[in-house]
Amino acid sequence: TDIPALRDVLADDFPIGAAISNRQIIGDQATLLRRHFSTVTPGNALKWDATQPAEGTFRWADADAQVDFATANGLAVRGHTLVWHQQTPAWVFTDTDGTPLTSDPADKALLLDRLETHIRTVVGRYGDAIGVWDVANEVIDENQADGLRRSRWYEITGLDYLRTAFRVAREVAPTAKLYLNDYNTNVPAKRDKLRNLVSQLRAEGVPVDGVGHQMHVNIQWPSVAETEAMLQAFVPLGVEQQVTEMDISIYTNNDESFPTPPADRLLTQAYKYRDLFALYRRYADELTSVTLWGLADDDTWLDTFPVARKDAPLLFDTELQAKPAYWGIVDPT
Ligand code: XIL
Repeated sequence: TDIPALRDVLADDFPIGAAISNRQIIGDQATLLRRHFSTVTPGNALKWDATQPAEGTFRWADADAQVDFATANGLAVRGHTLVWHQQTPAWVFTDTDGTPLTSDPADKALLLDRLETHIRTVVGRYGDAIGVWDVANEVIDENQADGLRRSRWYEITGLDYLRTAFRVAREVAPTAKLYLNDYNTNVPAKRDKLRNLVSQLRAEGVPVDGVGHQMHVNIQWPSVAETEAMLQAFVPLGVEQQVTEMDISIYTNNDESFPTPPADRLLTQAYKYRDLFALYRRYADELTSVTLWGLADDDTWLDTFPVARKDAPLLFDTELQAKPAYWGIVDPT
């Protein structure tokens, strides 16, 4: 007999999503994905290095395949991501003669122009098929007094790259929800700097609709109380919130490594999923979706980050079988 579908269990609360690559849209993975999930996020296929590897050269094969799969199966799509300091080709920040762009007005105008073209082209291609965009990813650095990451984007344009990105995305996709997405948003210093930026941008009229909490966490950290404070902090701003990249590592430091996940860790993980999902369900009025950064433990970015070792951060194991973590959400008693 079949186990309950996650999407049914959470139907009254929020859509539940998984990050995907081409591997999840065929075979047994696709069957599992369709059964349990109601939304997907291409994990790499919509990033700048994938969609525009060289200026004016666009590559759509992977993103098209994943978005078409989603549309054909009634899955919503989160678009991730238009502006980031990683997975962005070097040409974006370089003159046609190979010189790095600076903050002088001509270089700045060139970079904002490239940004505008990129967003018009990528967002325009998918139209209504993508209802939410992570317009900008990881722009906060809580170690800066002003909280703003010193990326090439920031060094060359100040905050104008964000103003341009959100304005253009809104123009091209007027009904899409536009997000600022970041990690460690439960850390109070980072959370508060993100909140200040969102409220400053919105006060200026920049169309930021929502805040994305990545939620790359582990079996010990953060606590439910810290996570609740994270959600609570954004309520007064009147923005939507989503959990965008959740996984729960079985590791708590870089020295640990297990060839196969120990049973006690999987149980601790199950309780963590149970408790965090119980919190999310209490905040269902604020949270418009919750997405896991992967489908099953056979394919997770944590196998190589922050060091190479087998991790097991998701709800299904390497054989695509439901883990204790799945039951923590489905049968929390
Ligand atoms: C990761 C992908 O999962 C990997 O396949 C890729 O090699 C690196 O990027 N935060 C993000 C995601 O916003 O885009 C990252 O995805 C994981 C961390």
